[in-house]
Amino acid sequence: MPETLNILFLAAEAYPFVKIGGLADVAGALPLALRSLSLRQTGGYHLDVRLVLPLHRMIQTDVVTMKPLINFKIPTDVGYKEVQAYEAILNGMPTYFIDGLPISRSDSVYSTNPEQDREKYTFFSLAAFELMRVLNWKVNIIHANDWHTALCLYALRNCSDDPFYSTTAGLITVHNLPYMGGDSGDLLNMYGLKELVDNDMPVWARKQALPLGLWAADWIVPVSETYAREILTPEYGCGLQEFLRNRTNNITGVINGLDINLWDPASDEDLFSNYDLETFEAREKNKISLIKKIELDFNPQVPLIGMVSRIDYQKGIDLTIQALRTLNDICWQFVILGTGDAVIEAELRQLQAEYPDRVRVILRYDSEMSHLIYAGSDIFLMPSRYEPCGLSQMIAMRYGSVPLVHATGGLKDTVHEGKTGFVFDKSDPEAQAKAMRRAFKAFAAPIKWRSFQRSGMKKDFSWTRSAGKYAIIYRSIAFKYTSGGEQ
Ligand code: ADP
Ligand code: GLC
Repeated sequence: MPETLNILFLAAEAYPFVKIGGLADVAGALPLALRSLSLRQTGGYHLDVRLVLPLHRMIQTDVVTMKPLINFKIPTDVGYKEVQAYEAILNGMPTYFIDGLPISRSDSVYSTNPEQDREKYTFFSLAAFELMRVLNWKVNIIHANDWHTALCLYALRNCSDDPFYSTTAGLITVHNLPYMGGDSGDLLNMYGLKELVDNDMPVWARKQALPLGLWAADWIVPVSETYAREILTPEYGCGLQEFLRNRTNNITGVINGLDINLWDPASDEDLFSNYDLETFEAREKNKISLIKKIELDFNPQVPLIGMVSRIDYQKGIDLTIQALRTLNDICWQFVILGTGDAVIEAELRQLQAEYPDRVRVILRYDSEMSHLIYAGSDIFLMPSRYEPCGLSQMIAMRYGSVPLVHATGGLKDTVHEGKTGFVFDKSDPEAQAKAMRRAFKAFAAPIKWRSFQRSGMKKDFSWTRSAGKYAIIYRSIAFKYTSGGEQ
């Protein structure tokens, strides 16, 4: 019998239950990919990875059958907080859902009120921590993701003398360093977590969830190799670069994969017409139907630029708006799907008003429309100021839309100028417009263009290799706190 490593994987969102952005893609796919690794890939261990999520009010409870699991309490300085835990089985994986007042009274995954989110995710992280004990499930590794779940690792380090957790190690995946959670000092006091005293950590960071999780983690995994290097610099390190530089021996960048069954143009039920490398000609029907759906005029000579994105400063959409205005001498069409920042949304509406025959702005979350844009656009734009990994450019390549990206983070690691896409170095409208001109020129040469599309579609974006890298990291930390070291 192979030995088992027990791993609790915590996230704020996971497909198919609830999705806002790429974190949901990762938390929906990576735990399952880890569970299905071969013993050769895990070094002989079976990985019993289980996912735990907050029971957000918008969660899709009809996706699987959810059963009440256990009710318990977590202590605070003025009594207890009630927790209700539920369980569902997703493709064979036990998935736990945590409910309680701080979760049920919030109506979105991420609120515009940071205090409400701090309360919700602190409660979630500590309830998930306690869940292992009430289930008497001894965990080898707690795998946290971003600030929302980071305090679970801090709680672990706060009770190192508790025999139940004394051999548990912690890993944190960093999907987005700038979001640290804000000042949680009151909550740390309320839940009886000790203040951090460590001169390695800047004073301003010592009450914020993400820095505390980074401090507590035995291993830190940024979501691409380039991002792992970038966060060590003042430009991307958000003030934690010195702290992170002291930890470089315990940091490994691991690029995200894709759920290639979910994202497959050959079987995608949302598409007007399915296709793969052999039946590539059928792709064109998707462009024609998309253009019709969004009420533009179809002309095979005019490139359709697509974007599917959270509307956020991070994503560089404001730079695209400026870049497009400098390209009036060329014919192009542009469609963007997204929601988020109200100011950028208004600027996009303004762009559509200026270019009613060329621009379509769809300001909502719409899974089906996202698939249509991946399959129907010619060029897929990701001009992000920073991008820890980015999944959309990989989805776009898998669907034969050629990415045009800023050379940062995971975009730099996955898109190659002149082979699979177009890459610009400087995050400004001029550099972006120049790259667009290169892309338009290539688009005008169909044989060349087809080779870009085919190279992207041939790439292997599956999770297997990256899940294997996580398995190696799990193994390297799993026995850190057991007396004999690795078994
Ligand atoms: P991030 O996580 O920073 O938002 P990623 O590129 O990693 O960026 O992942 C974005 C994911 O969210 C992709 O699966 C993309 O298709 C999806 N997405 C973003 N905005 C929308 C939207 N408005 N409607 C549907 N899907 C969206
Ligand atoms: C974050 C990042 C994005 C990454 C995603 C999943 O939202 O912005 O780059 O792909 O997490 O890791």
